[in-house]
Amino acid sequence: MTIHPKLKPAERMASLPPYFFHGLNQKIVRLRAAGVDVIRMDMGSPDLPPAPFIVEALKRSADDPTHHGYMPFGGTPSYREAWAHFYGRRFGVEIDPQTELVGLLGSKEGVFNMAMAYVNPGDVALVPDPGYAPYTTGALMAGGEVWLMPLRAENNFLPDLRAIPPDVLRRAKLMWLNYPNNPTGAIAPPEFFAEAIALARAHGFLIAHDAPYTEITFDGYTAPSILQLPGAKEVCVEFHSMSKAYNMGGWRVGVAVGNADAIRALHTFKSNVDAGSFQPVLDASALALTADQSWLIERNEQYRARRDIVADALRSAGMRCETPRAAIYVWAQLPGGEADDREWADRLLESVGVSMTPGTVFGSQGKGFVRVSLGTPTERVAEAMERVKRFRVRLRS
Ligand SMILES: Cc1ncc(COP(=O)(O)O)c(C=O)c1O
Repeated sequence: MTIHPKLKPAERMASLPPYFFHGLNQKIVRLRAAGVDVIRMDMGSPDLPPAPFIVEALKRSADDPTHHGYMPFGGTPSYREAWAHFYGRRFGVEIDPQTELVGLLGSKEGVFNMAMAYVNPGDVALVPDPGYAPYTTGALMAGGEVWLMPLRAENNFLPDLRAIPPDVLRRAKLMWLNYPNNPTGAIAPPEFFAEAIALARAHGFLIAHDAPYTEITFDGYTAPSILQLPGAKEVCVEFHSMSKAYNMGGWRVGVAVGNADAIRALHTFKSNVDAGSFQPVLDASALALTADQSWLIERNEQYRARRDIVADALRSAGMRCETPRAAIYVWAQLPGGEADDREWADRLLESVGVSMTPGTVFGSQGKGFVRVSLGTPTERVAEAMERVKRFRVRLRS
């Protein structure tokens, strides 16, 4: 039977690349079926659970027969107030939970939908390279153009704002920033945020700061919010999430905070696409945000121990990397001047069963790098690093 020529996906789908982790998952299933003990250090998925009192709150709320209906778009009042409380406690930033905040089904959808709500066809979105893929795919789906801002080691993985050409700045509608950064683990000083805000005010574009890693920090470092800077609410929104901050990735719950006009646009767009999160998820999240935070100290200590194991081992395997002060990633340059990160990561997986994410998955500036995720139990991290050292020795001999 011949198939009608119109029976095919929309042309805009061509700008969506195949999802890297889908292909990787299939490969890992095959290797495991063949008996290989694969250690995954590729995805940024926390392995640890949230504190028991948060899970108890979820169960209690789910036991209430009246908690199973549709929820208000953008979250319940208590969920929104809890995030406003978090912003006050953590950053000293006052947020109006009615107008300056909207709940999300995880920050990924908010990041993508922000572009849909804000970018016109032909507008430019300024996007870090390497960077989280939805900054680019959201802008492209909205019909925008993407101008990539390279993040280079010599500039501490901050974009060089002075290198953006004037005609690009004229057409810029949205700038994505993300600190603490995925995939590089870099942090941004407040002066960098101030410089970006001055540029956004001068050229009339919105800064969307994606900040899901502010609560995972080490060695006494405290990560700021961009909204702490003077004038930030005029040109900034910030995305946050329960996923990494509270080990709740599967719960799919986050927030966008900041400029009221941008928040309203996102809210309007979202209310045409989805509905509010499940009430028990919102209730437990509200408790997590407002209750005792001390369990996060021990959680971060576990990530720090893993970070040290990884950074030491990679260096002794001849790879260059910074010791990150935040987030759950070590960004490392391949040994011996190797440039093909996909081929190298493939070889590592095939020969010693350790999976890392090739740098070019995050953009062309990731060439010659791999991202090592710390969301794996510590003893498995140690085992993986022993294997990486063996892999290196085998290559040399
Ligand atoms: C930079 C960044 N932003 C956003 C997200 C999405 O997080 P979630 O949708 O779970 O809130 C991630 C997840 O890996 C991330 O690394």
